[in-house]
Amino acid sequence: MRSYTLIAPAKINLYLEILGDRPDGYHELAMVMQTIDLADRIHLRSNGTDVIRIHCNHPGVPQDKTNLAYRAAVLMTKQFPNAFAQYGGVEIEIDKHIPIAAGLAGGSTDAASVLVGLDLMWNLGLTQSELQELAAQLGSDVPFCVTGGTAIATGRGEKLAPLPDLDKIYVILAKYRHLEVSTAWAYSTYRKQFGNTYACDTQSIEARSAKVNSGCLVSAIAHKDNAKIGECLYNDLEKVVLPTYPQVLQLREAFQRTGVLGTMMSGSGPTVFALSESLDRANQIKKEVANAISDPDLDFWIAQFTPSGIGVAN
Ligand code: C5P
Repeated sequence: MRSYTLIAPAKINLYLEILGDRPDGYHELAMVMQTIDLADRIHLRSNGTDVIRIHCNHPGVPQDKTNLAYRAAVLMTKQFPNAFAQYGGVEIEIDKHIPIAAGLAGGSTDAASVLVGLDLMWNLGLTQSELQELAAQLGSDVPFCVTGGTAIATGRGEKLAPLPDLDKIYVILAKYRHLEVSTAWAYSTYRKQFGNTYACDTQSIEARSAKVNSGCLVSAIAHKDNAKIGECLYNDLEKVVLPTYPQVLQLREAFQRTGVLGTMMSGSGPTVFALSESLDRANQIKKEVANAISDPDLDFWIAQFTPSGIGVAN
């Protein structure tokens, strides 16, 4: 019997630009991703059988084969049948702290932690790029979750280029407890309203990616210029989510009024985050927004940027 406990951190999107529609139904993206230290804990335990079982302490998380973390384990058994035969099945227990369907990659990071955990448990010795290749078969954000830190993500989100680590930036996150936004809905609505098939021409993607790579945010990150980082936050999906969900717009505006470094919706939302250089100021911003909106359904978290991806706790 072997067991591992993994720390699976959430991400926020500091930048999300939709470059165009792809023939495979996905969208060509240019993103800057950042890991934050709000994390799930994933316990993996060999169960001495030939089955995979998944449990989660959050009632909204599927506890069957549709769970992405379960699918990650199945992928590993298919990819490494000898290791599966040798070590047997696994119990996956998810201790959920990251809000679900929130634009914070909660499901993707749990799946990434199963890949990393089974690699350790089965003594496979996979490289980061081998883990990322497997991760890309599970979802667009899973490869980033394996490595974490600060990175440019292009393609569907699976092509990664690391950026310098950012430290001492605090994030105030806010989400309405009962509001969930489907990522597929957000992208398909964007496609209906702003779709651009021409962007799948390779040259134009490269040209636009180059613009992003040398853009405001990447250079602000290189210079560790926090004020500039705040100014350069961007997310194309706000164009469809904010008009559809007035509460999210109201939340975004409430953060803006507090004079934060910067505020933006993360991923396909509906979580809105704001940046601050001190914990005291982060607490103050949280209080100001909570007072301004005063809705018992609104949850807050305070987290910090972290350079690490999936970690091992034991
Ligand atoms: O890759 P993942 O399964 O996480 O993506 C969820 C959904 O988000 C996809 O089904 C697709 O509708 C949308 N998506 C997209 N383009 C991307 C990434 C995600 O259209 N680059």
